[in-house]
Amino acid sequence: MFIVFEGIDGAGKTTQINLLADKLRAAGLDPYITAEPTGMETGRAIRRVLSGAVPKTPTQVAAMFVQDRIDHNVDPEQGIEVLLAQGKAIICDRYYYSSLAYQGSLTDFDWVMACNCDCPEIRRPDLCIFLDLSPEESMKRITRDRTETEIYEKADTLTRVRARYMDVFDKLGARGDKIEIIDASGTIEQTADAISRAIHAHFGI
Ligand code: TYD
Repeated sequence: MFIVFEGIDGAGKTTQINLLADKLRAAGLDPYITAEPTGMETGRAIRRVLSGAVPKTPTQVAAMFVQDRIDHNVDPEQGIEVLLAQGKAIICDRYYYSSLAYQGSLTDFDWVMACNCDCPEIRRPDLCIFLDLSPEESMKRITRDRTETEIYEKADTLTRVRARYMDVFDKLGARGDKIEIIDASGTIEQTADAISRAIHAHFGI
């Protein structure tokens, strides 16, 4: 089982990933939580770029994420392939849907999609769970301590990123990716219940 979580800022990915891992463990599975960018060398190089310390073009950044994702799949010790073969249930915080939503509009979208989705060493997840929150609600959750201009810019960005995710899900859904859009505007428990229902529908557990 290979499940990916995606969502805009403030959607609650970390909380829900941990809750799902607890539930899978209680159901007798062996969950393993992982994330992208990874903690491996490629992922650390990406963090230096995202922090603004190292300048790169959007195409370079997209390629770095592809490299990190391939390493994440095939690393002989902590790679997704090896862990799945060991029987782990993998829950991954962000995956190629993020590359398409974030880098896809900054460089050639079809190229980013081909690099990720046609790559023989980037596995298609069994399920992508998108925690969906309106940009307004997301802002409420994340804006403490920010100036008004920052908040305005942030709201604008969130609206664009959410719209791009929806476009990505249309395109990848048509290619066979399984995607569940879950309303994340309620309480932690309500969202966790909706996730459990989606997991039950897809995996029968
Ligand atoms: P992170 O600090 O892990 O944030 P979050 O808690 O929101 O996941 O940073 C991940 C950042 O990397 C996030 O801003 C999205 C970005 N990203 C991409 O732009 N492309 C990608 O392919 C991935 C996996 C992440």
